Amino acid sequence: MKRGFVTLLMTGTPGTGKTTLAKKLSLLLGYTYFDVNSFIKDAHIYSSYDRKRRSYVVDTAELASELLKVSEKAMKTGQKGIIFDSHLSHYLPSRHADLCLVTTCSLKKLRQRLLRKGYAAAKVRENLDAEIFDTCASEAAESGHKTLKFDTTKAKNSDVVSLAAKLKKQVRT
Ligand SMILES: Nc1ncnc2c1ncn2[C@@H]1O[C@H](COP(=O)(O)OP(=O)(O)OP(=O)(O)O)[C@@H](O)[C@H]1O
Ligand SMILES: [Mg+2]
Repeated sequence: MKRGFVTLLMTGTPGTGKTTLAKKLSLLLGYTYFDVNSFIKDAHIYSSYDRKRRSYVVDTAELASELLKVSEKAMKTGQKGIIFDSHLSHYLPSRHADLCLVTTCSLKKLRQRLLRKGYAAAKVRENLDAEIFDTCASEAAESGHKTLKFDTTKAKNSDVVSLAAKLKKQVRT
């Protein structure tokens, strides 16, 4: 991490509000929003597609080095910061990230959101379990990231504005 450029990671169980929060923060902070999931598909950073799980089997070592390249390019082109949106964003090594934000949500609300997104029952269960076991926050912490949780269950715009103000103070700009 270099003074003057901020790298934020946005992780959390699917449906907890990563994309919503990352996009709002990117506007409030003037950082670039980066959709890691689309990038994985477009840049083919996966070894195969698991049809049964309907998900890509991601090459995490390649993802780490590609995210680092993206971050360095953003820094060199004079951007203020970048927000990586994905539950896989923590694969960027912690020495290259300032903070890993973890979105959380009540189980009742999360179930509603996932059903609305069209998730099958088994997938809803799997994601509720991930939220119960705090999987994303644990993985990020195990990878050495500094983490900060944000509960989106009843989050209002003013809560996001307060978070942005807190981040401005917390991370070096
Ligand atoms: N702060 C919030 N207040 C109310 N609803 C929210 C909030 N954040 C997210 N939502 C709603 O929850 C749903 C899921 O949000 P979002 O798509 O941002 O989650 P996600 O973590 O990016 O999911 P995925 O992992 O599938 O990409 C959306 O319908 C969104 O409108
Ligand atoms: Mg999303």
